[in-house]
Amino acid sequence: MATLQDMLSVDAFEAAAAGRLGKVAHDYYRSGAWGERTVRENVEAWSRLWLRPRCMVDVSVRDASVDLLGVRSPSPLLVAPTALHRMAHDEGEVATARAAGVCGIPMVLSSLSTCTIESVASATTAPLWMQIYISQDRGFTRALAQRAEAAGCRALMVTVDTPVWGVRERDIHNGFRVPDGMRMANLERPGQPTGHTGRGIGESLGWTIDASLTWKDLEMLRGAVKVPVLVKGVLRGDDAAKAIEHGAAGVVVSNHGGRQLDGAIATATALPDVVQAVAGRVPVIVDGGIRRGTDMLRALAMGATAVQVGRPVLWGLAVGGSEGVERVLRTLMEEFSLAMALAGCAKVADIRADLLQRD
Ligand code: FNR
Ligand code: LAC
Repeated sequence: MATLQDMLSVDAFEAAAAGRLGKVAHDYYRSGAWGERTVRENVEAWSRLWLRPRCMVDVSVRDASVDLLGVRSPSPLLVAPTALHRMAHDEGEVATARAAGVCGIPMVLSSLSTCTIESVASATTAPLWMQIYISQDRGFTRALAQRAEAAGCRALMVTVDTPVWGVRERDIHNGFRVPDGMRMANLERPGQPTGHTGRGIGESLGWTIDASLTWKDLEMLRGAVKVPVLVKGVLRGDDAAKAIEHGAAGVVVSNHGGRQLDGAIATATALPDVVQAVAGRVPVIVDGGIRRGTDMLRALAMGATAVQVGRPVLWGLAVGGSEGVERVLRTLMEEFSLAMALAGCAKVADIRADLLQRD
């Protein structure tokens, strides 16, 4: 059997995870909405961007670090918020956080975590941020945000692409719901559903979100905490500008890994419009289909501050628990550093738009 050291790429982890996970968990992690066109396009759109490397630059010493909300990060990489890590490994989000900590990579903890915020916070030494789904009960959401802040989370990331849940047909066929023995560790309270009934995320976890969400709710959340609040799920420059108007400390270009509006443009396609509208006022993070260090290089050449990875982390967790996640993160960081060298970039500021072939 292949060891972790034999897994040379994120793709190798994806293939190995398929053999490790049961069908329900594997389908939940890999699926997208409806025809899954956006899932595929997220990956392909990065591949269509060809690179124009510079030669004869001294790249013997390279610095891949970036500033993220005032904290130096060793690489422009974050762990994207993804739900239900205990479906991949018994230790769940605690294992993921330990790996992020060892690598010095910030982790964004999902609202739909199967471990408590406090247990995850004590497992990592790297910055922990918390992703927030605003539920119908705004008072509960405010309390959740304050609980995250009290546990040491240094930023909140509010997800804005989920007024309703996208339809993932594989999950409906499989009767997906929160598995017995697992909990929505930070959301459960008396009188509320728990996610243990229903077929698919729309039925089982509909109570975690709210279709009436508007920009006013961003201001509500900002008013509840002192830490910065970023907005995740923006695909248009005009929305990015509105997010900043309403106080966002950062914008995350994302289509939720193709799990919400199928047919939504790939994040690599959306990024330039958002970068232009933001005009350097706040950091721009992008996720969706990042599978190689070369994809990170492409994203930064287009003006992103950093990237996030969702599924790659879940594949690592399924294959090797905390060590598997660590290996996935280190692979991406190492590939990025090598891609910088091969493109003639000694530091992140050298990664500019001229590296990309124009149409
Ligand atoms: C997600 N994503 C997500 N986003 C979020 O804001 N809160 C969440 O709880 C989740 N949960 C979740 C579960 C699973 C299984 C997946 C695959 C994704 C979306 C995630 O943060 C990110 O936007 C995408 O995963 C990025 O795409 P890649 O890297 O998976 O291609
Ligand atoms: C998902 C949610 C939990 O995409 O964000 O499954």
